[in-house]
Order: sequence, then structure tokens, then C-alpha cells
Amino acid sequence: MEQATESTPAESRAGKTLREIFESGRPLTYIRSAEEQRVSRVLREAGQRFFNSTPAPVWTWSVTEGMRGADGEVQPGAQQPREALDFIAAHRDPAIFHLKDFHDALRDSSAIRRRFRDLYDACFDQRKFVVVSSPVRFIPEEVERDLVYLELQLPDLVELIDFLREETAQIIARGGAADESEDTIAQLARTLQGLTLNEARHAVRRALSTTRHLGSDSLPALLEEKRLLVNRSGVVEFVTGKTEIGQVGGLEILKQWLIERKKLFELRDRLSTDIVPKGVLVMGIPGCGKSLCVKAIGSYFDLPLYRIDMIEVFSGRHGPPEGAFVQACKMLEEMAPAVVWFDEIEMGITSAETGGEQGRIFAFFLTWMQEKARGLFVAATANRIDLLPAEMIRKGRFDEVFFVDLPLDEERSEIFKVHLSRRGVDPQRVNIARLVAFANGWTGAEIEQCVVSALTRARLEDREMTEQDLVNIASDIVPLSRTMKEQINHIRGWASERALRASRRPIAR
Ligand SMILES: Nc1ncnc2c1ncn2[C@@H]1O[C@H](COP(=O)(O)OP(=O)(O)OP(=O)(O)O)[C@@H](O)[C@H]1O
Ligand SMILES: [Mg+2]
Repeated sequence: MEQATESTPAESRAGKTLREIFESGRPLTYIRSAEEQRVSRVLREAGQRFFNSTPAPVWTWSVTEGMRGADGEVQPGAQQPREALDFIAAHRDPAIFHLKDFHDALRDSSAIRRRFRDLYDACFDQRKFVVVSSPVRFIPEEVERDLVYLELQLPDLVELIDFLREETAQIIARGGAADESEDTIAQLARTLQGLTLNEARHAVRRALSTTRHLGSDSLPALLEEKRLLVNRSGVVEFVTGKTEIGQVGGLEILKQWLIERKKLFELRDRLSTDIVPKGVLVMGIPGCGKSLCVKAIGSYFDLPLYRIDMIEVFSGRHGPPEGAFVQACKMLEEMAPAVVWFDEIEMGITSAETGGEQGRIFAFFLTWMQEKARGLFVAATANRIDLLPAEMIRKGRFDEVFFVDLPLDEERSEIFKVHLSRRGVDPQRVNIARLVAFANGWTGAEIEQCVVSALTRARLEDREMTEQDLVNIASDIVPLSRTMKEQINHIRGWASERALRASRRPIAR
């Protein structure tokens, strides 16, 4: 990411693309975007950079408002599409002309199409640029070769920061309260990343209506609004809520590894590509904390966490799975820096030999892992590891493959403590060692369930929970590892040669 400084404000990605089009001397551009305000803003930015010390004006035309200059004054005699084109052709000075929804006029009249093509010569080398914006892609065949076609990606941080500066200034001008400090604006911009500019504006307005003030205290409202907007896509879910790494009991090796990777990840723009952490694959026994670890990575890396639901991808509700998957990955590229969580990845990515859709998704995923933005850290989780193809596990795709086994004695003790303290029970009050012995072969989820059930029972009887409540519940629990002994042994055997244990090995006695 480029750093903004006082003298040279950072250039947005969209602004840069347009500036480069201007520099290449192409006079006609077609931008597909429903966000006209954003197109205007990007045009101003690109224009300022391209024309440098003497910025050219940006004229705006629409069928309802006619042709207006940068000052908002209406130009007489340029209301009709044909008149607007004539005006541009005759204009003597450098300028940018933004034609809103001009696709209608191009569709309806061959004379307009002809006149539009004339503009190519009329503007070429004159430092005059015509930019059509429209929410749809409609380009008649005869003008196709004269045009540069562009689809705006989601706004990047530079654009969002710029937008927020303007928004806060407007709020203050209206007599409202807003925190204008650079730190707060950058923090708000990071929160809005992943939204279109219209959505961001909407989110800011919603937040204002609850907090009456735009600043760090608006973050929860903005996060909630973003969660709703992102989740509308159905395939990508924005996971909110903090999960401290301390909430994960045990798994010391995995936690230590993450601490080291965090450091490297933060230096990613200064490191060579092969050292920048790409991601981690966590496999293992259900209920032992795979999902919990991924949530902790998001919080610990202090980055937003997005979860790709492979079941949704394959549901058919979002079109062919391959298309839905590719689109989700592309959307995530726009969200960097972020942690991306592929949950139950084996649902989609089984062996390429099966061919067809799954094989193609797998091939795409492998390439994407190599080429994705530096700012994306991938965390994939899997239960049915034996379904995953060997290429996936091979070193190089992920930085490490971890195996999460049933928790060891010490880990069960930690997990009990985590869940008791989280629910306001002082772990000192109970004999943890006794519980740990009871809980031999339990998963973390079963330990949590034991604590919750004991608390529920006590609450129903309107009294404090006692150690005996825990013991009573514990003796009723039949752990998964007993009912699924064979499957667990199978997973263990398979993982032992292919993955690194997430826990410290028990000391041999
Ligand atoms: N190591 C652990 N430390 C603390 N809590 C744990 C641990 N492992 C599991 N839990 C508890 O059990 C719950 C379920 O664990 P989690 O969802 O992470 O399991 P999982 O490995 O992802 O299982 P699945 O394969 O079913 O998705 C967690 O929300 C957490 O409360
Ligand atoms: Mg899980």
C-alpha cells in the first residue's frame, strides 16, 4: 500500500488506471459502474494528476441535466445527446467530459454512433477525453474498437480515506460532530474496505443515526452494517467479534508459529515473496479448536476475517460452483489486507482426478494461492483430510499444515480454565486435575459443553455451580473419541506423516 504524505497524496488504484489511459492517448473510455459520484471523483483525481499544474475542467453531461461545467453552470444548447457531442468536438481547450448513461443514446441512433466515433479524431492529441459511465455494458460493435472498456473494482483504502475526509468535512459543515484525525479516518476506512462507495456512504449514514457522531465509537455500527452488506453475497461471510489467542487452550506449537508469522506478515511489503506468509492449513479431529484458531488468527493479526462457505459455493444458489468460487476469490483480493478462511475446504477441493467442476476449482485454487495478493493470509480448515489431494498438502502451497489432535492432559486443564473463566467462574474454586482425569479423550467442544451444562443446571436450581455439578455432567458424557474410535485412529494415522502436530508432544515417561 502506498503511503500518503503531505506533499504527494497517495494515488488510488482506480485513479491510476484512468491516468494511464489518458497517458496512453486514448480519447474514448467506457466505464461500467453504477456509482456515478465515484466515477466523477476518480475522474477529478486522474485529471489532476494527468494535467498536473493546470488541471483541466471536468464537464458532466446527462440527458436530464444537460452539459455542466466544473462550476455547475449549464452550457446552453448542449442538452441533447447529439448537441453534447457537437459541443465536445468544437471545444478548444483540454478537458474531460463525463457522459452519464450515454449508452442509451448510442443504442438508439446510428447518427449518434457515427458522431461519437468522430470524436476519436476530434479529441485525439488535443488533451480532450470522453468518458462514458453506465451501470450496464452496452457497446455497439462499430464503436467497440475506438473505446477502452473499464470496470471499476471496489474502492481501495486511498479512495475510502478521501471519501471519509469529504464526508467528515460535510458533517462538520452541517453542524454535526466528526473526528477528523488521520488515525480515526484511516481506522474507519479500513473498516469500510470491501464495500462500494455507495454502500460505504450508506453505512456512515446509518452509523451517524445511532451514534450522532462519526469517530472510533462508530466502529461497531459500521462493522455491523458491513457484515450485513458483505453477507448478502451469500458465499463470503464477514466474521465479526474478537477471539483472543488466549481463548484457545493448548495448541502451543500452532500458537507459537502464528506469533512468528504475524511478525513476517506485517513486514510483507518489504520481504521477498517466498518469505511472506501465505497461509496455513489446519486439519484434525472435529471439535478440537480448528475454527476457534482461525478466528483467533483474525483477531491476533488485527485484520478482518472473511469466511468462504464451501457448502454455499456448491449449493447452486449462486450459479455454477466454479464461477461462484472464482468470483469470491476475486472479491477477496479487493479486501486485502485480510485473513481468508476456507472452512471445510475438502467439501470443494477433493482430488483433481475426480475431474469436472471440482478438479477445475482445485486447479484454480492452487494457482490462486501462488498468485493472490500479498495482503491475504489464507487459513483453511479440514476434517476429512484423507479426501484432500497430495498436491494441496505438499509444502509450498501453505506455509505449514497442522494437525489438531485430542487435547493432552495439560491442554484439557487449560481448556477447562478458559471456559470457566469466560463464564465468570474462578477456576481456583474447582479441582481441575480431577476433571481433567474424567475428561480423558474429550474434545475441547465436549469440555465446553460440560461447563455449560453444569452452569445451566445450577442456574435452573438458582444456586452457584459446584465442582460436583461438573463431575456429575462429566460422568454422563460419552465422548466422540469413544464412539468414533476407528475414524479418529484413521485421521491420526493419516496425519502423522503429513502434518505437524499443533500441540507439544507429551513428555515420554
Ligand atoms: N483448544 C480449545 N480451547 C478452547 N476451546 C476450545 C478448544 N477446542 C474447542 N473448543 C471449544 O469448542 C468449540 C468448538 O470448537 P471448533 O469449532 O473450533 O472446533 P472445530 O475443530 O472447528 O470442529 P469442526 O470440525 O466440527 O468444525 C469452540 O467454539 C470452543 O468453545
Ligand atoms: Mg470448524
